[in-house]
Amino acid sequence: MSRKTTILCLASYYKGGRFLEQCKKRDCHVILVAPEKLRESKWPHDCIDEIFFMPDLHQHPNITYAITYLARSRHIDQIIPLDDYDVPLAGNLREHMRMTGLGDTASRVFRDKLTMRDTARRHGILVPEFTRVINYDELRMFMANVPPPWLLKPRGEAGAMGIKKLHDSEQLWRKLDELGDEQSYFVLEQFVEGTVFHIDSLVSDNHVIFSKTSKYGTPPLSVSHDGGVFTTKMLPEHDPDCQAITELNQKVLQTFGLGLGSSHTEFLKGHADGKFYFVETSARVGGASIDLMIEHASGVNLWAEWANLEIARARGETYQLPTLYDKYTGLLVCLAKQEYPDLSGYNDPEVTWRMNKKHHAGLIIATKDYNRLESLLESYTQRFSHDFMAWLPPLEKATEYEEIN
Ligand SMILES: Nc1ncnc2c1ncn2[C@@H]1O[C@H](COP(=O)(O)OP(=O)(O)O)[C@@H](O)[C@H]1O
Ligand SMILES: [Mg+2]
Repeated sequence: MSRKTTILCLASYYKGGRFLEQCKKRDCHVILVAPEKLRESKWPHDCIDEIFFMPDLHQHPNITYAITYLARSRHIDQIIPLDDYDVPLAGNLREHMRMTGLGDTASRVFRDKLTMRDTARRHGILVPEFTRVINYDELRMFMANVPPPWLLKPRGEAGAMGIKKLHDSEQLWRKLDELGDEQSYFVLEQFVEGTVFHIDSLVSDNHVIFSKTSKYGTPPLSVSHDGGVFTTKMLPEHDPDCQAITELNQKVLQTFGLGLGSSHTEFLKGHADGKFYFVETSARVGGASIDLMIEHASGVNLWAEWANLEIARARGETYQLPTLYDKYTGLLVCLAKQEYPDLSGYNDPEVTWRMNKKHHAGLIIATKDYNRLESLLESYTQRFSHDFMAWLPPLEKATEYEEIN
């Protein structure tokens, strides 16, 4: 092909630098469209050929006008959402412009928690009991049949934002009164006590070609609501939980039809019944530094490999995974009392990364010895709670981010 592969990225939030860098490294023409409020963010400008700022990416039909205007004089090969919130937008634009990749309906399965539940159940994948928040007889029936506690979850948020744990019907009706016309954008489901896992994968030709399964220390919901140190550790491949989740993940991603890309998917193992429940999936790289944890274990950077997958598709080439190395990694992060917490005391040779973010303490441990990973993670978690840990009330919506950052 004589012309350059052109990749247009949408980013409602500041992320995906490694994706942009990889596109540039592979000699693509890179276009970034971001909201005005991110003009001063530290974008890797040397990797971006053209950058456009708009007041609001999610304003229709303005965004369609803008992207199709760009397309008049550019052959855009792929539209990529760098943030989870941009997944349906990219789907909508691709559908409108008849481009490859997830369209409207397919991207909704990766964004809308009610659609995820419904699609999973229809395909025989175990999920917590749930109901849409549309019809009050259905809600009454749900509450009569499913013992509390329940979770009232926004269908389209991330990072456990806006999730409420409810203990009786009165709490639900009061909450719905507060929500008014917003209520149908929530899903009500059974709270299943259990251990939460995440599996981070790369998909090509609708097959998972790479995945790493990890187990959260404390479930993310408890960390965001009650505070604590966020920890996660990779599981060995022979671990039965790892094997079960790897299989389930393949089924979820094939059923949901990701086709090509990267996904962060969560499962929960019920304490009461030992069964695996599907929690959520996505068509994006996991947040909270999980991408780095995977990279320090395997050498695979999910952002960069997602870019390589997209470029291979655009160029009609065959994608090849890089050579992997095999370490176990663990990640710890907590909010810190100190503006710049001093992590120099965490100096075991297995510490391969330290977070550099105001009021956050975080690090990655990498080792070939699984017992060593477990013991370091345990002692560091205790030391983190003693040395750094702070707590802030959980956010309701991602739009509140700007106010604290
Ligand atoms: N039905 C459930 N029962 C128990 N815990 C749940 C359930 N659904 C979600 N959680 C907890 O809430 C967290 C956030 O929910 P999730 O659906 O993953 O939304 P988010 O996109 O905000 O991460 C999960 O990681 C898990 O800890
Ligand atoms: Mg989650």
